[in-house]
Amino acid sequence: MCGIVGVIGNNKTTDILLNGLEKLEYRGYDSAGIYVNNQKGKDFLVKEVGKISKLENAVTDDVQGLVGIGHTRWATHGTPTVENAHPHFSADNRFYLVHNGVLTNFEELKTKYLADVKFSSQTDTEVAVQLVDHFAKEGLDGEAAFRKALSLIEGSYAFAMVDKEQPDRIFVAKNKSPLLIGLGDGFNVICSDAMAMLDQTHQFVEIHDGEVVILKKGSVEISKLDGTAVQRDPYTVDLDASDISKGTYEHYMLKEIDEQPNVMRKISQNYLNDDGTMNIDSKLLDEMKKADRLYIVAAGTSYHAGLVGQNIFEKIADVPVDVELGSEFGYHMPKLSKHPFFIFLSQSGETADSRQVLVKVNEMNLPSLTMTNVPNSTLSREATFTMELLAGPEIAVASTKAYTAQIAVEAVLAQALGQAKGIAIAKDFDVKKQLALAANGIQTIVDEKATIKQLTADFLTDQTDAFYIGRGIDYALSLEAALKLKEISYIHAEGFAAGELKHGTIALIENNTPVIAYVNDGVGASHTRGNIQEVKARGAHVLVIASQKYAEAGDQIIIPEIDELISPIISVVPAQLIAYYASLARGNDVDKPRNLAKSVTVE
Ligand code: G6P
Repeated sequence: MCGIVGVIGNNKTTDILLNGLEKLEYRGYDSAGIYVNNQKGKDFLVKEVGKISKLENAVTDDVQGLVGIGHTRWATHGTPTVENAHPHFSADNRFYLVHNGVLTNFEELKTKYLADVKFSSQTDTEVAVQLVDHFAKEGLDGEAAFRKALSLIEGSYAFAMVDKEQPDRIFVAKNKSPLLIGLGDGFNVICSDAMAMLDQTHQFVEIHDGEVVILKKGSVEISKLDGTAVQRDPYTVDLDASDISKGTYEHYMLKEIDEQPNVMRKISQNYLNDDGTMNIDSKLLDEMKKADRLYIVAAGTSYHAGLVGQNIFEKIADVPVDVELGSEFGYHMPKLSKHPFFIFLSQSGETADSRQVLVKVNEMNLPSLTMTNVPNSTLSREATFTMELLAGPEIAVASTKAYTAQIAVEAVLAQALGQAKGIAIAKDFDVKKQLALAANGIQTIVDEKATIKQLTADFLTDQTDAFYIGRGIDYALSLEAALKLKEISYIHAEGFAAGELKHGTIALIENNTPVIAYVNDGVGASHTRGNIQEVKARGAHVLVIASQKYAEAGDQIIIPEIDELISPIISVVPAQLIAYYASLARGNDVDKPRNLAKSVTVE
C-alpha cells in the first residue's frame, strides 16, 4: 500500500527515489510520482499511472536535484489518474507533499478553510497540502504552517513535504502510518519500509505517532507537535540487499514457497535447544499462564494462521482461544474474559486493522504479544512482547512462508506454555521433531512441482469457480487455500467446511466444477470422504489432498507424515503451488496481483 521515499543532500536524488520506489513496488500501487528540487530555484514533478518502469521512462535526464520525495499510490480517494497521483502541490506551487494513510476530516477542513481554493485532484491528500499553504498565506513560516495543519488534521498519515522557499529540508510527520528516517553518509533519507533504502544505509531512526521531523542533509530534528524536542538513537537493520532479490527465480512467490523448509529449520534453531529447553521469554510465559483466554487478532492470511493456531493452543496449552478479525473486533468488541491475553499475528507488523485493536488493548492495560516478521515494526514496538517469525523478507503480495512460519511459531509457543502449565499433552508433542518433519515434508511437496503444475492445468484451465473443502484443521486450511487462489489467479474460490456445503452451496456444483478436498483431519476424514461422494454425484471434478494415514487409492496428492495439529504447514503448500501455476497460466502478474497491497496501512 502507498509507499513513501525521500532524500536530501545526495546528488543522485532521482536515482535514489526511483530505486526506492522500485523496492516498494511489492506493497501494491497503481500510480507513482516524484518531486525533485535542485535547491537553486529549479524543480520537477513527474507522475504516471501504472508501473514504476513507466515513471522511469517519463523521467528525463535533466530531472536532477538535491532534495526529493517520491510515492507509490494505492487508490483510496479518487481513481488512479495522474491528477490523483502524488506528490500533490498547493495551488501556488509552493508546497509539495506525499501522503500514506487516510484523512478522516478532509471534507470538513476543505469547507472550513479552503472554500476558495481550486483543487486539481479528488484526493484527501491535496486538502493537507492546500491547508499548509493556507496557513503560510496567513503569515506563518513553512514549519509553523505545517504544524498548524497537523494540529487540525484527523486520521492516519505519514507525510513528507518540501517547501520551495526552504528546499534545504524535508518536513516529515506521522500518525498511525509507517515511516522511517535513514541515516546516510552526508545525506539522509526517509522511507515507508527499510527495504526501500538498504542500498543507501542500514542505520534507521523510528518516528513515533504525533511526531514531526525536520530532516536536513546533516541533521534529524525530531519533536512532538507542541515543539518539545525528542532524542532517539538509531538502530541497525540486519538485512542484506540480496535477501530481497529474486535470485534465479522468475517470481518472488515461487522463491518464497521454496524457502519454507529453511524457515522451519531457522525457527527450530532459534527457539528450540538440543537439550529440550526453549528460548522463550519467561516473562511472556508467566503473563500467558495467568490468561483465562487468548485472543488472536489478525487479517487476511495471518487470520487464517490464527485459526490453525487456535486448535494448537487449545489442545497443547489447554487454554480457550478466540480468533478475531482486527477490522471487526476493534469496533465490535465482545465482552472480554476476566484475564485476556492478546496475540497479534502480522507478517508486516503494520496492518492498520490490527493496530487499532492494539491501541485499544494498550488503553485497557492488557498484556499482548506480536508475532511478526518485521522486528521494530509498529505492532512489535507497541505490544508488551514480540516473537519474530524469522521467515526473511516476504516480497510477493500473496503470503506463503509467513503463513507457515506463523503456524510454526504458534506451535513453539503453545508447547512452551503447555509445559510451563504442566499440561500432559505438551510433554508428548515434540515440536522440534515436528518442525523437522515439516521441513522435510514441504521439501517433498515442492519437489513435485511438475505434477502439481499438471494437476492445475487439468483441474483449473478455463474454470471461473473452484471450491476447497475440509473439516476441522482442514477447514481452517481450506480458507487459506481458497484465498491464495483468489488473490493471484482471480478464479472465484471458496473455502468451505465440507459438511456445510450440502446446506446450500452445493447448488453451485455442476458438471466439471473443481472441488479440491483435504483429508488430513482424523476425526473428520471419513465424513469428508462422504462429502466428496456427494459432490462427485453432482458432477464435480474432485482433486484429493490427503495425509499418508488417510489416503486412498486415486488420491492425487499425498501429504507426508506430521502431527495433524500442524499439518497445514505442509498441506498448504500444494495450494500455494496450485495458485501460482493457475496465475501463471492466466498471464497474471503473480507477485503484484491487481487491487492488492502487501502491507495495508489504512483501515
Ligand atoms: C494484506 C496482504 C495479505 C495479508 C494481510 C495481513 O491484505 O495482501 O497477504 O495477509 O494484509 O497482513 P499482515 O502483514 O498483518 O500479516
